Amino acid sequence: MIIAVTNVKGGVGKTTTSVNLAAGFANRGKKTLLVDLDPQAHSTRCFLSGPIERDVSDFIMERPSQAHRFIHSTPYPGVDMVPATPRLTETAELLSTRIRREERLYRALAQVADDYRVVIIDCPPLLGILTHNALMAADLLLIPVQPGVGAVVGLEALLEAASELRDEDKVPYRILVTMLDLRTTHTNAIFEELIEEHRKRVLKTIIHKSESLNQANLAGKPIYLYQRSSRGAEDYDALCEELLKIRIRH
Ligand SMILES: Nc1ncnc2c1ncn2[C@@H]1O[C@H](COP(=O)(O)OP(=O)(O)OP(=O)(O)O)[C@@H](O)[C@H]1O
Ligand SMILES: [Mg+2]
Repeated sequence: MIIAVTNVKGGVGKTTTSVNLAAGFANRGKKTLLVDLDPQAHSTRCFLSGPIERDVSDFIMERPSQAHRFIHSTPYPGVDMVPATPRLTETAELLSTRIRREERLYRALAQVADDYRVVIIDCPPLLGILTHNALMAADLLLIPVQPGVGAVVGLEALLEAASELRDEDKVPYRILVTMLDLRTTHTNAIFEELIEEHRKRVLKTIIHKSESLNQANLAGKPIYLYQRSSRGAEDYDALCEELLKIRIRH
């Protein structure tokens, strides 16, 4: 299963979700590949340190048959990674001039995805060529949404881009409520913003706002290495379980 964690909005928990899902699936014995598709390289920093030579730019720009060469194993058992570096910004520009530019990630992943139970793609916060590549490659779009005014702005555009790129009426997606602060937001308020169609796609699991998740991010670690017993770890455990159970049928 290839999951693209994506939202055009910044700072909604895409990277936190990608990193902790990768670790959480691996904890369950599901071998996971995490692809960092954001030049900010935040999820890379959680699993790899030191200079990185072969990265996601190579993964998408080289021939698909070479894809395996750009996968790194990480110290976290069960998690492999295709890391990002800041040069991904230039790669995105270069990519825009190439033929079949939206299919490159899809074609690279087709060569390696069978080695993994789950592939997770951490997307950048904009609807550019990199996100287009993720939308093409994914079996499921996982869209983190932070409750609040304008939480779903950009959702339609994202889904429309996905349908258009794939030439499919409906692309499978699920909405994940993140950073919920029960002191300031009632869960009902979130649903009011969503039209009926989207309400059915909201996952049961909610990621609560938690200082331990925030601190784990600052420390550049999955929550399981930072504070194993915490609300954050429980929430991401529940998310792994829920995602493993869903059947993707739009
Ligand atoms: N559940 C949470 N509770 C508290 N803080 C959180 C939670 N999830 C994420 N954060 C914090 O919110 C900020 C944004 O999170 P994150 O980097 O995961 O978002 P993003 O969508 O990947 O951002 P970007 O669009 O820049 O890639 C970070 O400082 C992170 O530590
Ligand atoms: Mg991010």
